[in-house]
Parts: sequence; structure tokens; C-alpha cells
Amino acid sequence: MRDVAVIGVGCTKFGEHWERSFRDLFVEAGALALEDAKLAGEKIDAMYVGNMSAGRFIEQEHIGALIADYAGMASRHIPSTRVEAACASGGLAFRQAVIAVASGMEDIVVAAGVEKMTDVEPGASTDALTGAADREWEGFVGATFPGLYAMIATDYMHKYKMTREQLAHVAVKNHYNGARNPIAQFPTEITLDTVLKSTVVAEPLRLFDCSPITDGAAAVIVAPLERAKEFTDTPIKVLATAQASDSIALHDRRDISTLDATVAAGQRAFRMAKLTHKDIDMVEVHDCFSIAEICAIEDLGFCKKGTAGKFTADGETALGGKIPVNTSGGLKACGHPVGATGIKQVYEIVQQLRGEAGKRQVDGAKIGMTHNVGGTGATVAVHILGRV
Ligand code: COA
Repeated sequence: MRDVAVIGVGCTKFGEHWERSFRDLFVEAGALALEDAKLAGEKIDAMYVGNMSAGRFIEQEHIGALIADYAGMASRHIPSTRVEAACASGGLAFRQAVIAVASGMEDIVVAAGVEKMTDVEPGASTDALTGAADREWEGFVGATFPGLYAMIATDYMHKYKMTREQLAHVAVKNHYNGARNPIAQFPTEITLDTVLKSTVVAEPLRLFDCSPITDGAAAVIVAPLERAKEFTDTPIKVLATAQASDSIALHDRRDISTLDATVAAGQRAFRMAKLTHKDIDMVEVHDCFSIAEICAIEDLGFCKKGTAGKFTADGETALGGKIPVNTSGGLKACGHPVGATGIKQVYEIVQQLRGEAGKRQVDGAKIGMTHNVGGTGATVAVHILGRV
């Protein structure tokens, strides 16, 4: 297996892009990544594109070919593959690109993610997202994603006595970070009161506990580490790529407030990188709802089960804390164009490791982690990246 490095990254601003199309968003992110790697499009050998539900959101399928075409690669006939794993589509697209380069099969590969979610009315986007759950046992009886995560939050708060205020600190911290990120959908600081007085979406989750509906695209380019210096002075090495699965429906889980696929993928990634949680300088976790961040930091081993509420309220996950979590603003404040999120997480960690994260920079960052979840935890991808 060859060592793999990220040599270029690009991302659109996340938000409601009513004036722009799905393909425009992808082309912008791809062009930014090529420019970052000082690379011409004809050097690209293959593409993997994370996308959850273009069929439902914009009535377009055949995304791999569409993207290759609008990226100007149709006449070169390179392989371009759509990767779908609900909200973990981007994380899995990155993993496929890394595997393609590590195996020696391809040299310069684009891993991208794109989603255009705001062209349908809210009921339709909620229904499309429900496709990430078990349609027969969950969706059919009316469970939505906010509803499913509300069940996890209720179970967790009952078991571990986490307070509503402690949970709200996740959103306050992520909005603080998002306010320092130029691509964030909601670049505004909020207070605990904003969260606690916002509209109830699914008890106990309120509007500010939820990630929004978002349009956006992100792209990264990977290459063999031995060739990386041809393109950039600051290659970022991929130290581990891991993936795990679990039952798709919550009721089949051993414990609904522990994501066993996160535990498994996290352990595999640490083993592969020969590192522990103490070596990680910052982590982008999948905070599709505030409770998801609470579970994630425990399941990845950054704090003990049942303690993440206090850990967060004490500022240990804030910039300057023990382990800064979601310096980008996370899905909550940066936005969550579902197929693009896993790639945006890599984009954020690469910026941090290059020392290019501006007002949200983690001092002396050397090693970072990403954690991308599909559904309520049926698919999880974890990556560890490090400065060379
Ligand atoms: N956080 C903060 N503000 C939000 C927001 C969010 N998640 N979602 C919307 N807003 C704001 C809007 O900007 C708007 O503000 P304005 O009135 O000042 O313009 C206002 O709240 C109402 O927005 P609207 O689009 O009408 O919200 P909505 O009620 O249709 O949707 C949610 C709100 C939370 C239901 C929706 O964002 C949602 O379903 N989120 C979860 C997405 C999801 O499940 N993703 C997959 C996870 S696995």
C-alpha cells in the first residue's frame, strides 16, 4: 500500500443557493481544489463523488457522469463514480479515493461531495432525508430524523442525567466557531438563551439543536505522498481511513445512545494510525443534532460515556480547550449539504493542519480527525490526517 496525501482542497460557501445549480456548485468546489493544488484538470485520473439524494432533491440521477461532464472531463473518459451512504456519502467518497491511490490503481484522484437541498419544499426535504433511516420500520410510521435523534437525546438525558443547558452548549460553541468561518451558513454567535427559547422541533430538540437544510459542495485532491511535493509545499498525509456499519433501525441497536459503528470505526482508525485520542489536536464530528456531538466525542474516546455534557459545558471542546471539536462550526453552524459534509470535514482539518484557519486556528495543530455518520449511525467513516 502506498502512503497518500491531500494536495488540494476547495469548498463553496454553504447556504441557500437558489440562484445556482447543483452542477455550478460542484464546478466551483472542484475548480478551487485544482487551483489550490496548482493542477490542470487533465492530470486527474479518477473521481469519486459523494451525493445522497439528487434524485429526490433535483430529480437528477447518474451523478458521476454528470459531474465528469460539467468538470470538462467527458472527452477524457476518466472513471467517475457516485458514492452514496446517506449523510456519510462524502466520507466514503474520500475513503474510496484514498484506497484507489493507496492501491496503486490511480495516481491523482478527486474526492468530492455535493448536495442541493433547498429547491424542494421543507416536507419533501424531510421525507428525502428519512430515506437514510429504515423506511419500513421508522419512516413509514412517521419517524423523521429530528424525531429519531430526539429519541436518542431522551434516552441519553434519562440515563446520564445530562441537563438541557449542557446540551445547548454544543450549539453555542459551534455557532461561535461558525462565526469565524467564511463558508458557514450561519456565521453568527448565539447565547444559551437563543437555544433554550428556540422553537421545539422534536422534544427535547429545538431549532438550534438541529443542522439546517443546505446547498453546497466540497472537493479534495489526493495523490501518492511521494509525488505530493510536485503540487504543494504543504501536503497533508492520510494517516488512517476506517469505516463501519450497524443496524439501520434504532430499535435493533444494543444501546441507542451509543453509536457502535463510531466506536468500531474510531478504534480501527486509531489502530491503523498507531495513535490514541491523546494525539489528536482537533476533530470534526458529525453534529447533525447537538446530541450527536455528545455521543460522538464519547464514542471516539475523547471523554467517558455519560460525561460529554459537562465536558462541553466546561469548555473542553471549545477553541483553546482540551480537544477542540468542530472548529468549522460543525454541521450545526457551517451547514449540512448531506453529500458534501464528509468532504468539508477534510477541508477544515487540512486548513487547520496547514495553519490557514484564521480566527479559528488551533495553535500548533499537527494531527486531526474527521467523523462522518450516515443515518442514525448505520454507516460511519473516520479519517485521521497529519502534517508531513
Ligand atoms: N439552525 C438555525 N436556524 C435555522 C435552522 C437551523 N437548523 N434552520 C432554519 N433556520 C432559520 C432560518 O434561517 C429561518 O430564519 P429567518 O426566519 O430569520 O429567515 C428560520 O430559522 C426558519 O427557517 P425554515 O427554513 O422555515 O425552517 P424549517 O422550520 O423549515 O426547518 C428544521 C427547520 C430544523 C426542521 C430543518 O432545518 C431540519 O429539518 N433540519 C434537520 C435536517 C436533517 O435532518 N438533516 C439530516 C441529519 S442526519
